[in-house]
Amino acid sequence: MHKWIMSGVFFAACALAIVLMFTLPGKEEVAEEAKPTMPPVTMDAGQAEALVKANCITCHGDQLQGGMGPSLQKIGSQDDVEKIYTTIVKGKSGGMPSFKDKLKDEEIANVAMWLAEKK
Ligand code: HEC
Repeated sequence: MHKWIMSGVFFAACALAIVLMFTLPGKEEVAEEAKPTMPPVTMDAGQAEALVKANCITCHGDQLQGGMGPSLQKIGSQDDVEKIYTTIVKGKSGGMPSFKDKLKDEEIANVAMWLAEKK
């Protein structure tokens, strides 16, 4: 009888552990942090240009020719849109700031799409 109760408790604990495994933020969230997902947006070149003028040209040059940061004139033939998006969201260790808290996800996605066309 006692044994029966013990295994009941054991199974209840297992069930709880499994439920927690699926409900607690785990590996998935970490993966998202490493590679943020781009929200679906329709490209708006006018908005992208305005955002780039306001946020990027101080380092990347008014023609995106480069300055303190590298040239972005042909960034689209080097990086795909997802990679550009990730760079803008997370920044880069060599002096590229993160824009996660400065721009909306949709704005960053729009800028990334606009830059991805620069080939
Ligand atoms: C404070 C200066 C600064 C600002 C502002 C800045 N960047 Fe950068 N950016 C850099 C530097 C420096 C690098 C190179 C970092 C590295 O390679 O580690 C870089 C790298 C990049 C790269 C990767 C280029 C490559 O060849 O790999 C992209 C894309 C980029 N920036 C886009 C942007 C966009 C878009 C904005 C505006 C939303 C922006 N940057 C604003 C300094 C800046």
